[in-house]
Amino acid sequence: MTQSRKLLKRKFTLNGQPQEVDVDGHETLQHLLQERLQLSECRRGCDRGDCGVCTVMLDGQPVYACLVMAAEVDQSIVETAQGLSAANAKYQRLQRAFQEHALTLCHLCRPGLLVSASALLGERPAPSQEQIRAAISGHLCRCSGPDQVVRAVLAAADGGKVETS
Ligand code: FES
Ligand code: FES
Repeated sequence: MTQSRKLLKRKFTLNGQPQEVDVDGHETLQHLLQERLQLSECRRGCDRGDCGVCTVMLDGQPVYACLVMAAEVDQSIVETAQGLSAANAKYQRLQRAFQEHALTLCHLCRPGLLVSASALLGERPAPSQEQIRAAISGHLCRCSGPDQVVRAVLAAADGGKVETS
């Protein structure tokens, strides 16, 4: 005999748009975003809170989407890297700085790192190197290491210089 799982209705705002979804208690936010809502920048990596590639903003704080159950996001505000870029001049400056200073970052880590860096700059417009390293320490990156990300965030910070074209 097969048992059907109970579905829960959840409403939240995703990248500025209202969402209403049915979720079961076992689905992660990462799965919901990438597999069902087609947001490819919320990547699946370790699936256990080790790598950071699934990082999204939940109610203004960066979280690992693989560690958040979809059922928990009722009435919340969720933003992915894509959503942060819309009409956000500071975020666009950060994106340009990543393009200029973090050239070897592959597409696996980039969206999650942008979310974490954006959250940091929201709290500390001119962070120190140590604060930047702490903010991105939850991202394990095989290709690039943290140095170029630190340079990019410094360039995008208040007082930093970043090319505009
Ligand atoms: S997939 Fe979420 S932290 Fe690795
Ligand atoms: S930039 Fe490629 S694994 Fe991190």
